[in-house]
Amino acid sequence: MPSPIVIETKRLILREWNESDAAFLLELNSNPEVVKYTGDPPFASLKAAQNFIQAYDHYQKHGYGRWLCVLKENAMPIGWCGLKWDKDEKLIDLGYRFLESHWNQGFATEAGFASLVVGFDHFGMKEIICRAMKLNLPSFRVMEKMGFKYLKDGQCALHDARYYRLGREEFEVFWPRETWPSKVTYSVST
Ligand SMILES: CC(C)(COP(=O)(O)OP(=O)(O)OC[C@H]1O[C@@H](n2cnc3c(N)ncnc32)[C@H](O)[C@@H]1OP(=O)(O)O)[C@@H](O)C(=O)NCCC(=O)NCCS
Repeated sequence: MPSPIVIETKRLILREWNESDAAFLLELNSNPEVVKYTGDPPFASLKAAQNFIQAYDHYQKHGYGRWLCVLKENAMPIGWCGLKWDKDEKLIDLGYRFLESHWNQGFATEAGFASLVVGFDHFGMKEIICRAMKLNLPSFRVMEKMGFKYLKDGQCALHDARYYRLGREEFEVFWPRETWPSKVTYSVST
């Protein structure tokens, strides 16, 4: 089984979620504004959120996954962000989701950037795709701020969507490597 990664940014710790995070995921998805453009229904119960976490095998299979984003200042979880292997479309997807109370404070961009560094630097990914439904303007803004460029139109959870792409070379031009350590560090436990 791959060793867990812990990522640290200026304000956040990104870590693998576990069963103790079920109440938080339940709360996060219970806000209709949060799931409006995700295609996800809210969890039906705490048990359903626990079952989801138990069945989540992405870390074991790939070493990466969606990571819980916890505020460093008070250890409070405020969202998740991270990478997913989409086996149907054969691509690596960056996703993010935060509590509405914490929107527009740069958290998705901060955590997204950290996920990209880990994807390109640690896992040697060549390209990462980010997708959003066409009406999800904040999500497109986050993509642009991270350096993603429009790739094509497509579908996301059966809705019209846009796909954006970022290759490793373009990322390193947009965010020169020497600037990374001031923004993100990560460790892999042995
Ligand atoms: C999308 C989401 C993750 C963004 O998180 P966030 O932490 O607020 O993102 P950031 O603060 O890093 O950046 C948000 C940007 O969108 C901009 N924005 C906000 N509302 C906007 C709107 N209606 N139109 C255009 N831009 C908008 C903000 O001004 C900010 O840009 P700026 O830094 O240039 O001012 C958050 O809104 C969320 O969790 N939404 C629900 C889940 C979701 O839709 N996830 C994405 C699925 S693809």
